[in-house]
Amino acid sequence: MIRHLLSAADLDAATATFVLDTAREMDAAMSNREVKKLPTLRGRTVVNLFYEDSTRTRISFEAAAKRLSADVINFSAKGSSVSKGESLKDTALTLQAMGADAVVVRHPASGAPHRLAHWVNGSVLNAGDGTHEHPTQALLDAYTMRARLGRLAGLNVAIVGDVLHSRVARSNVLLLHTLGAKVTLVAPPTLLPVGVGAWPAETSYHLDAVLPDADVVMMLRVQRERMDQAYFPSAREYSRRYGLDAARMRRLPDHAIVMHPGPMNRGMEITPEVADSPRSTIVEQVANGVSVRMAVLYLLLGGKS
Ligand code: NCD
Repeated sequence: MIRHLLSAADLDAATATFVLDTAREMDAAMSNREVKKLPTLRGRTVVNLFYEDSTRTRISFEAAAKRLSADVINFSAKGSSVSKGESLKDTALTLQAMGADAVVVRHPASGAPHRLAHWVNGSVLNAGDGTHEHPTQALLDAYTMRARLGRLAGLNVAIVGDVLHSRVARSNVLLLHTLGAKVTLVAPPTLLPVGVGAWPAETSYHLDAVLPDADVVMMLRVQRERMDQAYFPSAREYSRRYGLDAARMRRLPDHAIVMHPGPMNRGMEITPEVADSPRSTIVEQVANGVSVRMAVLYLLLGGKS
């Protein structure tokens, strides 16, 4: 069994499938209960350590840990001694002293969770590090695809937009490849990372050409807060070439689904009509996130005492 979840590459096909199957069991167990709680992690402490803003991921990890009856401590860098200059290492040692069994960390620096894993005895779960990885997002996305389309092996998945700044894209490519799906990254050349040729994915600059063969189209947020230069001429030009609107959505096969990790820039990478359409799994992704994170916490902590 693995101790940390730092990268989607930490999961082989059997382990990833075990997480998805466990998440489905968690889902079933919760829906049959009046009190939405399982006793699995009673007496264990999960710390949410968030150095970067988050809505869905933070709430989702908190809900997952609480539904497994763990004690949850929420730490956000704002309002803590981090604003007095305390280092990640000293913060980690403090958490260690408080007996954290798991630390869920989001950090603007790529690699921060890997560093943290050297300093604490508990499990470290990467909840998003810089532009690097976001493995639980990839797991909840895979769970959603499998629930909607019945399988992952052989699916054609198009991941569209700001791949350069997206930790969601990298983790999805790694996990989907492990699970036998075929990924095509669609973006303007300026928003594809250097070295993307070595990723287990195809690339394309032409969204309209990719849509007719896609089973899944995953739209990415244009991450303006990470952009230090102009990557495309204008928002309007970007939407015209890479945004998903109703007309473009009609190019998809009938069974295809539309995903987005959130938060969305409505009107930029996706129109409200598409985001709120029956093909959209955006709200389901959020709900599935809780079951998947319960499964991950169970995988990492369940066996240990
Ligand atoms: C993403 C993230 O923070 O990496 N959102 C998420 O976790 N659901 C994607 C984004 O910020 O665009």
